[in-house]
Amino acid sequence: MYKTQVGANIEDAKHILEQAELVAIPTETVYGLAANGLDPQAISRIYEVKKRPQFNPLILHVSGLDQMKKLVLNIPMVFQKLIAHFSPGPITYLLPKSKLVPELVTAGSEMVAVRIPDHPLTLSLLSSLDFPLAAPSANISGYVSPVSASHVLSGLSGLVPYILDGGLCKVGLESTIIGFENKRIQIHRMGAITKEQIELVTGMPVEITLAHENPSAPGQLKSHYATKKPFLLGNVEDLLILHKGKKIGVISFKDSYQSCELAKQLILSPTGDLRIAAANLFSAMRDLDQSDVDMIIAEPVPLEGIGHAINDRLERAAYTD
Ligand code: TXA
Ligand code: MG
Repeated sequence: MYKTQVGANIEDAKHILEQAELVAIPTETVYGLAANGLDPQAISRIYEVKKRPQFNPLILHVSGLDQMKKLVLNIPMVFQKLIAHFSPGPITYLLPKSKLVPELVTAGSEMVAVRIPDHPLTLSLLSSLDFPLAAPSANISGYVSPVSASHVLSGLSGLVPYILDGGLCKVGLESTIIGFENKRIQIHRMGAITKEQIELVTGMPVEITLAHENPSAPGQLKSHYATKKPFLLGNVEDLLILHKGKKIGVISFKDSYQSCELAKQLILSPTGDLRIAAANLFSAMRDLDQSDVDMIIAEPVPLEGIGHAINDRLERAAYTD
C-alpha cells in the first residue's frame, strides 16, 4: 500500500517512474496509469493494479516523432501526414513494433499502439525521460475512465505512489485508434478525431473496424466503461415510464426532462455542443453512479462528428451479456 500523493511535480513523477513504479498522468483524453514502457517488470505492475487481462495490449506514449521512430519499424506516408496534422492530439497509431518494445506491451502482437498526448505536463515529463510511457486509462479494468485527478484517486488510492494532477481532461473520451493494413486505413476505436477528418487529411476512404466486433482482435471488450448501477440507453421519456417507482438518474444531451421518478438529472451540454457533451460524459456517469439513484438512464446523442464516439461509449456502458 502507498500513501498516494497528488501533485503537479514533474521531477517527483520522473523519479518514481525511473524506480519502475507507477504514476497516473494527465492527458487531453483521459488520465493514464503510466510505467516505463521498456521495462517488463514495471509494465506488469500496470496489469496487476488495474486487474487488466494480459491479452489486452497497452498504448505507448511519446513526446514526439523522434521517440516514436525508435519504437516502430517504419511509418507509412499516410500516417506521417496524420501525425503532422493531428499529433500531439487524441489519436493513436498502430504500427509494426521494433525490437525495443517488450511483448508485454503488445500482448504478443507484432503491432504496437503509439500516441503523442497533448498535455503540457505530460509532454514535459515525457521529454525528460529516456523511455516511453506505457499507459492504459487509470481506472480499474472495465470501469468508467477517469477525467480528473480525483477520479483517479477514487479508484486507485493506496495502489499508486503518485498522481500527476493536470486538471480536467479537455477531450474527455479515449483517443481514436487507427491502423493501416492492405494500404487502407482502419479505425479500431472511435474518438475525438473523426473518420471525416482523417479522410480529409489523407484523401483516402477510412474503414471502421471496431475491434470488439472482431473476436480475434485483442482488447475493446463489448462491455466496458460500465457503471455499478444499471445503465439503460434509449428514449428517456419511455424509459422513465417503464421504470416507474424507481429512483432514476438521467444523463441527457441538451434537453431537460420532468418526471417524479427523476431523482437527479445531468445535462451534458445545454447548448447542444457535442464536444462539450464528450468532455462531461464520464464525470456525469461517475457522479450518478455515486449518487443514491437505483438506475441511470441515458439517451444517444446526434450521430455526427464526436457524437459517434460518445454513442459508442454509451452503448458499451449499457451493454449486458
Ligand atoms: O486516450 C487514450 O488512448 C488513453 C490515454 C491514457 O492515452 N488510453 C487508453 O488506453 O484508452 P486503454 O488501455 O484504456 O485502451 C487502449 C486500447 C485497448 O482497447 C487496446 O486493446 C488497444 O488500445 N490496443 C493497444 N495496443 C494495441 C495493439 N498492439 N493492437 C491492437 N490494439 C491495441
Ligand atoms: Mg481503458
